[in-house]
Formats: sequence, structure tokens, C-alpha cells
Amino acid sequence: MPNRLNGKVAIITGAARGMGAAEARLFASEGASVFLADVLDQEGRRLADELNHTFPGRAHYVHLDVTKAAEWHNAVAAAEQTFGHLHILVNNAGIYSAAGIENTSEDEWQRIVDINQKGVWLGIKSAAPALRRTGSGSIVNISSIFGIIGSPGSTAYHGTKGAIRILSKAAAAELAPANIRVNSVHPGIIATPMVDALSPQARQAVAAACCLKREGRPEEVAFAVLFLASDEASYITGSELVIDGGYTAL
Ligand SMILES: NC(=O)c1ccc[n+]([C@@H]2O[C@H](COP(=O)([O-])OP(=O)(O)OC[C@H]3O[C@@H](n4cnc5c(N)ncnc54)[C@H](O)[C@@H]3O)[C@@H](O)[C@H]2O)c1
Repeated sequence: MPNRLNGKVAIITGAARGMGAAEARLFASEGASVFLADVLDQEGRRLADELNHTFPGRAHYVHLDVTKAAEWHNAVAAAEQTFGHLHILVNNAGIYSAAGIENTSEDEWQRIVDINQKGVWLGIKSAAPALRRTGSGSIVNISSIFGIIGSPGSTAYHGTKGAIRILSKAAAAELAPANIRVNSVHPGIIATPMVDALSPQARQAVAAACCLKREGRPEEVAFAVLFLASDEASYITGSELVIDGGYTAL
């Protein structure tokens, strides 16, 4: 079923690399016009150029630090001015911290909350008026299995990802009258630059703890995000979709 996002306009944060880049590629290949938003300007522009080579005019790069309201305003305005409408927001940008409770400084706690948690809220707040003007919309928030289960270390990260889970449900309730759906996605370990920071032993241990005994690929998350973003998911809102090779099933 090609062109599953035909005519749709999407903003994807953290789209310069990793899962965001896989989502941008897939969305463009399915007919969407995509605003790739990130702070990695060089990588983001390079990917937009690559996508425009195959899908002329479908990709735009916009500098967006998700913690900054003014930059959100500019990104949403750019999408509306270029294409007339905004239909989809994927709040994918995020950072990881593996520091334990006593080793996490207040500054580090604040930084991860600002990017992972406040950034998602600012995205919803900034995009909602544009989605209302469109008459419908889909917001997909990338949480984590660490937003559902606990683990030792990385408590700040767990806290933000748990917050995204329930923020998504509350936003789904509030925005449903405007025909705007909001869902959260919960990946397990996915092979991206983010997990390159982990030791090979740690990665192998997590992969071995999955039913499927391997890490996931960014594309395997992107297909789920595509589904939730598309009209195929028209009766799905306030839900959480786990994509973890069965890690949390055991
Ligand atoms: N890789 C995994 O195993 C995994 C598992 C569960 C959830 N996640 C989540 O998936 C999302 C994508 O992660 P990834 O693995 O592709 O990581 P990644 O580090 O490869 O990519 C994250 C992107 O977010 C961007 N970003 C960081 N801070 C930003 C900011 N302030 N404003 C805008 N962009 C910013 C980065 O520049 C980068 O391009 C994150 O929210 C992450 O927490 C990842």
C-alpha cells in the first residue's frame, strides 16, 4: 500500500539521525512533505538534500531546539507557510543519561527534563493550533520501554519517558474534540547513535533479554510511527505501542 501519507505535512524532531531520520525517509517515501527538525544542522540538511534527490520538494530542514518556544513557533509557521497545513507531529528528539541517582547533578536532571519532557509538551502546545486549523491531526510521541518499566541507573531518563506516556494520554483526551489523535511509542533497544554510547557487553545483554534475541532497527520503529501517523490509525488515540522485540514480555 504505497502513498500511505499522500498529501500530509509532517514535522519530525530529532530527524537528523537515528530513528528520526528513518521516520523522515519512510514518511517521504509514503508521499508526505517532511520538515526535518534538529539541532544537528549539517546532518539534517544533508539528509533533506538526499531525500529531495529522490522525492523532489518533499523534505525541508529546519533548525529547532525543542526546548525553545520561539524556535517551535518558527518551525510550525514554516510548515504552514510552505504547504498550507500541518497534519502530523512526531516528537522524537531525546537524549539519554546513564547516571545513577546520586551521580546525577541538578543541572543534568534539568537538561534531560527540558529536552525529553518539556520539549514534547512545547511541541504539542505549538502544533495544536495549526492542527486545529487543519481540522485533524496525529501526534506521535517517542517514549521508551523505560517509560513503562524501571531499571537501575538512568532514573532521570526513566522519569522523562514515563512522563511522556501519561502526557500523551492527557493530550489525547484534551485534543480529541479537535480530531487530533495523540499516541506514544515505546521502543526497546534500537541500533542508533544513542546506543553506540553503551558498551558492547551492555548491548549484548539487553539483546539477549529480548524474545527475538536481537536489537531492533530504526526502520522497525519507523513503520509503527508511520501507522499511527496515518489515517489507518483513525480510531487509535491515547494508546501506547511497545516495539521491543519482546523485552517487556518476559
Ligand atoms: N535507541 C534506543 O534504543 C531508544 C530506545 C527507546 C527510546 N528511544 C528514544 O527514541 C528517540 C530517538 O532516539 P535515537 O535512538 O534515534 O537517538 P539519536 O541520539 O540517534 O537521535 C536523537 C536526535 O535528537 C536530536 N536532539 C537532541 N537534543 C535535541 C534538541 N534539544 N532539539 C532538537 N533535537 C535534539 C539529536 O541531535 C539527534 O539527531 C529519543 O527520544 C530516544 O530517547 C531510543
